[in-house]
Amino acid sequence: MSENITASQAEEEVTRMVEETTLEPTLKSEDNAAQALSQPSEAVKEATTTAEQIVTPWDVAGEVTETGEQLGINYDKLISQFGTRPIDAELLARFTEVTGHQPHILLRRGMFFSHRELTRILDRHAQKKPFYLYTGRGPSSDSMHMGHLVPFMFTKWLQDVFKCPLVIQLTDDEKFLFKSELTVEQVLKFSQTNAKDIIAIGFDLAKTFIFSDFGYVGGAFFVNVQKIARQITFNAARSTFGFTESDNIGKIAFCAIQAAPSFSNSFPHMFGKKSDIPCLIPCAIDQDPYFRLTRDAATKLKYPKPALIHSKFFPALQGPQTKMSASDPNSSIYLSDTPSQIRNKIKRYAFSGGQETMEEHRRLGGNPDVDVAYQYLGFLLEDDELYKKLAVDYRAGTLTTAEMKDLCIAEVTKLIKTMQEAKAKVTDDLVREFMNPARQFDLGFT
Ligand code: TYM
Ligand code: TRP
Repeated sequence: MSENITASQAEEEVTRMVEETTLEPTLKSEDNAAQALSQPSEAVKEATTTAEQIVTPWDVAGEVTETGEQLGINYDKLISQFGTRPIDAELLARFTEVTGHQPHILLRRGMFFSHRELTRILDRHAQKKPFYLYTGRGPSSDSMHMGHLVPFMFTKWLQDVFKCPLVIQLTDDEKFLFKSELTVEQVLKFSQTNAKDIIAIGFDLAKTFIFSDFGYVGGAFFVNVQKIARQITFNAARSTFGFTESDNIGKIAFCAIQAAPSFSNSFPHMFGKKSDIPCLIPCAIDQDPYFRLTRDAATKLKYPKPALIHSKFFPALQGPQTKMSASDPNSSIYLSDTPSQIRNKIKRYAFSGGQETMEEHRRLGGNPDVDVAYQYLGFLLEDDELYKKLAVDYRAGTLTTAEMKDLCIAEVTKLIKTMQEAKAKVTDDLVREFMNPARQFDLGFT
């Protein structure tokens, strides 16, 4: 949206947005909750010294205070603005009771923090009724980054726990429409290379269908796309995503394509004509606006609404004010980075909660809450006791920034090495097999 606009259009845009930012986000219904959040970040920052936090599928930025300081993302506020539910101890206990599994590290550490109707899926599991998982990736770059591992590693674990089918959408069409610098050839290639990163995570071939929109959309899937499109007005898309009249028309209709995999009859080779099998969508919270519109359309089409489980963002190396993003190489650790690149990036860019000098650090101690190396360790260090002790020692000043970064480098390098070794074993034939609808699936139900 901020791309491809002329200076005078940009000015108009800024005026409009300044007017809008003064409106309090009082609307909490599913349809309207995104309204106040949908302004692109750059223009807002230029126009005002203060700015609300922004979370859309394209922009993530923490609130800017009156003194110009940018804060971390306020996730409690997002829950109330988006109208989702927090994941609390009671829900985690129910999860364990129903599945017999202890919560995954990403649930224990609060990384997955929000949901829509997860309880409905747990009830179905308890009643042995079928459901499936749906997640996806917009192939915008040759390699995925560590942030993308969050929903995919979690989805792999959910598939192991529920032994259920999974569909993975690669939205190469989306990246073509939204990134004017990319060609069709590039996004097609990124779909293939990203599929290898995804397969390397270890999904069950017999239960998993990976598809790219350019390759698969047609047939029953496209019927659903248009049924959904007929339920979403231009007004709803504009207020949810902040589109303007200078956005291309493909962007405006794209949400129907991301919505369609939420309905089981989009995949006749897996679910036949059944339209009543619900899905659970693991994703980071930036994707929620798509699924708010999807849930509204589901009601009108008499399909089950998709349930969601949302993660926070894996922070950029520069700090929790924004997310790791593939478009900023210095913010991200890519799955293709070498050990020395990982080491250099963390040493040079990872925001530190330590003190300026060693003497001060020993005396005053550091702040693990804003320390990026410590935050990353939260996703990687399985040992809960050790993880807690690191924070205590950091606060006490007995653990230094250099030591915290070294621990982080060791854990990140270990994970990336495992992923690279697994990816090296993913052949082009295996990619074709995962993406082939004309094969035998074993969904675990009929
Ligand atoms: P994409 O490619 O931007 O991101 C893929 C998935 O990774 C999540 N994600 C992150 N999670 C944690 N920390 C980060 N720093 C981070 N950056 C990205 C995203 O939320 C997403 O779950 N339009 C979507 C593709 C899509 C999709 C879906 C995603 C189609 N259908 C259904 C989720 C669910 C996209 O471009 O994702
Ligand atoms: N829109 C997402 C992106 O830009 C890709 C995506 C498609 C996706 N379907 C999904 C992400 C389902 C999570 C779940 O990357």
